[in-house]
Amino acid sequence: MTLDPHAKVHERALIVDFGSQVTQLIARRLREAGVYCEIHPFNRIDAAFLDEFAPKAVILSGGPASVKTETSPRAPAELFALGVPVLGICYGEQTICAQLGGDVERSDHREFGRAHIEVVKDSALFDGMWERGSRQQVWMSHGDRVNAIPEGFEVIAKSEGAPFAAIANEARRFYGVQFHPEVVHTPDGAKLLKNFVQKIAGLSGDWTMAAFREEAIAEIRRQVGDARVICGLSGGVDSSVAAVLIHEAIGEQLTCVFVDTGLMRAGEGEEVVRLFRDSYNIPLIHVEAANLFLGKLKGVDDPEKKRKIIGATFIDVFEAEAGKIKNAAFLAQGTLYPDVIESVSFDGGPSVTIKSHHNVGGLPERMNLKLVEPLRELFKDEVRALGRELGLPEHFVGRHPFPGPGLAIRIPGEVTQEKADILRKADAIYLDEIRKAGLYDAIWQAFAVLLPVRTVGVMGDERTYDHVLALRAVTSTDGMTADYYPFSHEFLSACATRLINEVRGVNRVVYDVTSKPPGTIEWE
Ligand code: XMP
Repeated sequence: MTLDPHAKVHERALIVDFGSQVTQLIARRLREAGVYCEIHPFNRIDAAFLDEFAPKAVILSGGPASVKTETSPRAPAELFALGVPVLGICYGEQTICAQLGGDVERSDHREFGRAHIEVVKDSALFDGMWERGSRQQVWMSHGDRVNAIPEGFEVIAKSEGAPFAAIANEARRFYGVQFHPEVVHTPDGAKLLKNFVQKIAGLSGDWTMAAFREEAIAEIRRQVGDARVICGLSGGVDSSVAAVLIHEAIGEQLTCVFVDTGLMRAGEGEEVVRLFRDSYNIPLIHVEAANLFLGKLKGVDDPEKKRKIIGATFIDVFEAEAGKIKNAAFLAQGTLYPDVIESVSFDGGPSVTIKSHHNVGGLPERMNLKLVEPLRELFKDEVRALGRELGLPEHFVGRHPFPGPGLAIRIPGEVTQEKADILRKADAIYLDEIRKAGLYDAIWQAFAVLLPVRTVGVMGDERTYDHVLALRAVTSTDGMTADYYPFSHEFLSACATRLINEVRGVNRVVYDVTSKPPGTIEWE
């Protein structure tokens, strides 16, 4: 492995992934505490890796396996000889016990969800937050449980289902917790993780967006030299932040290409042009391609076909424009850390899969362009923080995610100009109400869907026969799972009234109360 340019200049924590659904949240909590960390699968860590990565703290994640199974994953033994603090979470605690001489048993008493633990001993892990004898709320999710702890360890907290809910070997600075401090349902979890990396491991918290900005600029200059870079703007946060950062590094060597598909939200295309061309003075090619996209979508109602057509058309248009830029050698992409984290594979042995980013398909290869991906170490919330650091307007930086195929996948059935216009207007009103109610930032994504169903209504003395509009709003941390947002009835009914009064073509409004799973966030 080669150390990432940012990793080189920061003290580092290592997160060993055993396949938990929430491993990424550990990393996010550490980053929030100002600590640079990386997630690596347990089976990719060996002595050479540890030598180079040189972590100052190690966290072992949870995972779906049972340590009672012979083939279950283990932490590389070298980790325990590094002399640095180790914290095991859930499966991580169990494997510490199994590997260092304790015992784990299968338990009939599964604990899942909210639980309470009793703090039975003071510990550096609980310093400044939990007192001996107090009861604390945590989030548990385990079947197996620790049965005997290794020599040198003490119990520091217990619960009804887990007599070894938290254990510590303060001398070696090894800790284990059966609960999940990384999830928000453990209200003090972030503080506990901060205690571990800052107070126990002594990491200074030098990972800030101001530092990142300086390092990223130096790195972009080093990578690009005096070559030209093309960046495709989508109107979203990631590509915009990447573009502003790259522009700060190399100025006029960057040209942005913005393809307006006609499937964006109200006013979005104009805003991108205003922001980049006028405020930032970044060279921008604005391609108005709405007619082309709508023409290609004519008569198509299958969601996957729509996606393919939009993706292929985007590449054609982008390639044609990018081809006009002389001597371009690099293509900038807003790839984020979750796109590059290697995922653990349990069934395929040591193999790992790397998720790839397909914003612009095979374009880099076809056009013989190298990639610049300055955000590839960042989580979405860090990209937003960087955007603020770079001076992008708050309403832009805080925007809800928007899918590449845009409104096309919010119009089930055939997409037409008329439907896109109705939806754009309705969506803008819905978002306006959400902003006015002060709820925008509490919601991960909110949008309207124009259904291909018409229903009968009455307006004044007239009978109407118009579209049904579905409203969707969800909370989520990463889009992988989501809960519908519990709007008040008053809010929903005020939205419905405004929508029906102001949007011609809509005469009925419904609210989607499906969570993910089993539903998806989008309707197509
Ligand atoms: P679902 O609907 O799968 O969405 O629950 C999860 C997240 O992904 C976004 N999404 C897309 N983004 N191209 C994109 O760039 C797509 O085809 C696409 N489909 C869904 C969705 O908006 C949500 O944030």
